[in-house]
Amino acid sequence: MPSIDPHSFADLEQGRIEHIEFTFDIDFDAKSIRGIAVYTIDRPVKDSLFLDLRDLTIAGVHSPAGEVNWSIDKEDRVLGQRLHLEDLGAQSEFAIYFETTPGASALQWLAPELTAGGEHPYLFSQCQALHARSVFPCQDTPSVRFTYTADVIVPAPLTAVMSAERVDVCDGAELIESQKGPSAAGTSSMSDSTVCVFDMPQAIPSYLFALAVGNLAAKDLGPRSRIYAEPEVVDEAAHEFAETERMIAEAEGLFGPYEWDRFDMLLMPPSFPYGGMENPRLTFLTPTLIVGDRSMVNVVVHELAHSWTGNLVTNATWEDFWLNEGWTVYAERRILEILDDENYAQMKGALRRKSMLEDMKLFGIDSDPTRLNYSQKGIDPDEVFSTIPYEKGAAFIISLEQAVGREVFDPFIKKYIDTFRFQSLDTKGFVDFLKKELPAAADAVDIDEWLFEPGFPESAPSIESTLLDAVDAAMSAYEKGTVPSADTVARWKPEQIELFLKNLPSTIPADDCKALEELFGLKSSRNNNLVVAFLAKALPSGYEAALHSTERILSTVGRMLYLKPLYRALAEAEWCKSKARDFYDRHGAIYHPIAKGGIERILNDAGL
Ligand code: BES
Ligand code: ZN
Repeated sequence: MPSIDPHSFADLEQGRIEHIEFTFDIDFDAKSIRGIAVYTIDRPVKDSLFLDLRDLTIAGVHSPAGEVNWSIDKEDRVLGQRLHLEDLGAQSEFAIYFETTPGASALQWLAPELTAGGEHPYLFSQCQALHARSVFPCQDTPSVRFTYTADVIVPAPLTAVMSAERVDVCDGAELIESQKGPSAAGTSSMSDSTVCVFDMPQAIPSYLFALAVGNLAAKDLGPRSRIYAEPEVVDEAAHEFAETERMIAEAEGLFGPYEWDRFDMLLMPPSFPYGGMENPRLTFLTPTLIVGDRSMVNVVVHELAHSWTGNLVTNATWEDFWLNEGWTVYAERRILEILDDENYAQMKGALRRKSMLEDMKLFGIDSDPTRLNYSQKGIDPDEVFSTIPYEKGAAFIISLEQAVGREVFDPFIKKYIDTFRFQSLDTKGFVDFLKKELPAAADAVDIDEWLFEPGFPESAPSIESTLLDAVDAAMSAYEKGTVPSADTVARWKPEQIELFLKNLPSTIPADDCKALEELFGLKSSRNNNLVVAFLAKALPSGYEAALHSTERILSTVGRMLYLKPLYRALAEAEWCKSKARDFYDRHGAIYHPIAKGGIERILNDAGL
């Protein structure tokens, strides 16, 4: 069914990974994980098995029949390398001994200074899209799912968390004593270690594998949700995310039962490159969501919604990424409509549509990345990451919904999820299902235009909200020379401020920059959505005071949503161009490898 994945060397005819038993020994000094992975394949493997890897050192491969010969092909820039297990002799189980390298693209090793507590190091993974292969050899395609267990050995007093159930946390020394007798204890660093034991009973694709190690505390939020964070920030985080159980309950009403037992979250260190990552049972969240007023919890809603759209029904390849993200933005908006109200949800939609149209301009309005589905052979998904599959995808789903009405569409959603749960689906598979189950929508909507043509369809559902009207009125007044008054914006929602800032002309007088900065309290705002939207106008406008705020963000935050527009704005304006490289040289060390890649592309494209 699913087509061949252009982003993996796996050959699924050879067999599919079904289960992996991991042992990980975390070495902060060497910035390396020593690993053993015992694989179960769904059938005896006749001859070869191909696995994906990148920057991994392989120490050996063993099957019950003895040592297995292996070789590694030369590196492909996008895919990494193919590990060729040469003859498994009809075994369906084997073990690989391996070590990660300090530059592993999925892993960030943080020195204590880069954590909230400042005393202990921290490690975390980010596997989507093609990075799991830098942590362990795997069929790194979202169309293969496996269950896993893991024993993770970490230096005390740190603990590990994973996208799995943590079934036990043991003292390393005691463990050695009980298992092997005291003589073994002196032989390794185990004696001052903790062993965290995990079990993941629900099958996941490799990109949803996740691991973090640090000095972690936890607070319960509800019967099936808990926030993990460094002890210094766990209370603030618990306050920000207190509404989680209500979100889960509302989501279940729309999409069916929550299938992952628990929805725990991990508040990441500031260098986490995304807003959130939907790792099953343990969503990762940027600490930039902690603003005190819960105004950014839509990111939690989004990651929660992936529990159905993405984690249960999974895109078969990254060419079908819109199936994960378009559906999830749609689902997020449905949940927000209940938690807030429709007017507010529409307002948020307008803001995001604006960002999508900006992204389309950046890539070129006729370019492939503006299509929902196109061949990505030879293309790194990180390089074409944008809001397009999110917002264009969601607009497509909304147009299907509007064609038949919610009474018909809502049962279709439940059937869609139930039909493909714990499976992967490609774009064609979705279209086939749509034509069969909802022919009226399939006929009414120009599916080919939405899925395969570049740009944004004229026929797209419109967005209406009275909250937008207030922003438009203030903008008209500004165009006639009046900066909004404090009274006008007193009751504005943060999203209204953000949209106003985004709608400003690309350059404005420096005096206006100063006035707007004061009007919206941007010098002291914790809401970086607003601050970055402002700086993206203030830098091109030659507002010199913007440099200071820009550097403050670039030196403390690793979320790409903020880094990229700021580096772009710096690189584009003549007066501050040289600062782009300068800031990167000074602060680049704190960024995640994925963020570094993105920023280096911006600097290179600008000839810096
Ligand atoms: N799964 C994505 C993050 C991602 C996408 C990581 C592609 C790697 C490759 C996550 O669900 C996401 O979309 N996060 C958004 C949040 C949002 C749209 C509310 C983010 O990080 O900004
Ligand atoms: Zn998402």
